[in-house]
Amino acid sequence: MNKSPITSLDPDDWVAFRQQSHRMMDDMLDYLEHIRQRPVWQDIPESTREKYSEALPQQATSLETAHQRFMQEVLPYSAGNSHPGFMGWVQGGGTPVGMLAEMLAAGLNANLGGRNQMPVEVERQIVRWMRELFQFPESASGVFVTGTSMANLMAVLIARTVYLGTEVRQTGVCHDNIRLVAYTSEAAHGCVAQAMDLSGIGRQALRRIPVNEHHQMDTEELRAAIEADLAAGLQPFFIAGTAGTVDVGAIDDLTSIAQIAKAAGLWFHIDGAFGALGMLSEHVRPLLAGIEQADSIAFDFHKWGQVPYDAGFLLVRDSTRHMDAFAAPVAYLRREARGIAGGSPWPCDFGPDLSRGFRALKTWFTLQVYGAEKLGQIISQTCELAQLLAAEVQKRPELELLAPVALNIVCFRYRCENADQVNQEIVLQLHESGVAAPSTTVVNGQLAIRAAIVNHRTNEADIHRLVGAVLATAQAMNV
Ligand SMILES: Cc1ncc(COP(=O)(O)O)c(C=O)c1O
Repeated sequence: MNKSPITSLDPDDWVAFRQQSHRMMDDMLDYLEHIRQRPVWQDIPESTREKYSEALPQQATSLETAHQRFMQEVLPYSAGNSHPGFMGWVQGGGTPVGMLAEMLAAGLNANLGGRNQMPVEVERQIVRWMRELFQFPESASGVFVTGTSMANLMAVLIARTVYLGTEVRQTGVCHDNIRLVAYTSEAAHGCVAQAMDLSGIGRQALRRIPVNEHHQMDTEELRAAIEADLAAGLQPFFIAGTAGTVDVGAIDDLTSIAQIAKAAGLWFHIDGAFGALGMLSEHVRPLLAGIEQADSIAFDFHKWGQVPYDAGFLLVRDSTRHMDAFAAPVAYLRREARGIAGGSPWPCDFGPDLSRGFRALKTWFTLQVYGAEKLGQIISQTCELAQLLAAEVQKRPELELLAPVALNIVCFRYRCENADQVNQEIVLQLHESGVAAPSTTVVNGQLAIRAAIVNHRTNEADIHRLVGAVLATAQAMNV
């Protein structure tokens, strides 16, 4: 066999590579600068979709060609959450600063599983900042994860380990016939039930507590459910309050839930996927009273924090309990007092991931460059825009509001016969028009047009455009 020459994947011609890099950067900056001139979303042409069934390329393509393909085939057909007209689901807009930080992180190619390196210190800095923001003690730990779905699962695993002891990591959850039960509201995100499922405790062990007229967990019902389970010989262990429900943006009464959890000796977790970072806003902060009493908080920097995807986070009051659920010493990850293997505990001791990217860097850049005050103002601004939208809806007899607007989410609809089908169709047509992109949900059995205003680029004109487009679409449908 002929020996192939030793080679690497670095460019042969760094000068040409540098020029191409600058073009790529300019294209992305152009994209962000002029994003308003684009449709929010457009469907992928079949011919483009088909190109992505090609066989594995054996031979090289130039970077320039790959870049051109990205510009023509990928960039125009993303879901559109960077666009100011995007109000679907709950998605952040990202920032040019976050984009540049991602590039630096990728260039450094740091593996944040652990070890004695400054990137881990950057992640620890974010942990310290989050302790400060949520008034958690010095003993609190935190770790970046993909998103709140993962952070909620980890919180269930930590609470399980606290209640069943660390032996549960050997025996599994079925030992000693202890039947754990957990509580969350009917308005909680589906990933809380999924966390019960993935943890092996099971969805049936999650009590879905009814909500009051503000879509908050009914705390009397919560108390009663815990008492009934105790009387039945079950072991209540976990309450997940929500700070910003996915459908309407309601915040549970966190102070009352904290008291109930404390009295019953349960783990108090908060799913604050988007709402928890409301702590940055002077207007939202008072609504989050009680968050500082949680045992753990799950949230995402990639939503209201505007950090590019993905940047989920779990903050845990007691770092020992946090580590008890995940740390697993093995010979090949031995810690040392000096050298690269120093600096224990490592982030991999606080979660299931060993290989981890440098999510902390884009978050650090975002907090440094914009500052907490400005990010808080953006959060307040999205809430003000939601109030504007609610007022515009209420002004128009053709429209009705379907839920109170506590934060940045507005659920409304066009009044007509067959309103569920018609409003669904309105949303589909809005997406296809590229003008605005709300999503839908069901509130009290009624299909709602749901506008979640998360993006820092969204302004008053976008709100008026959405209302105008909803009315024009409905009128064109002759309903
Ligand atoms: C309240 C709530 N919890 C959990 C999630 C899931 O978060 P992620 O998509 O980051 O996993 C969301 C997503 O919107 C949410 O709104």
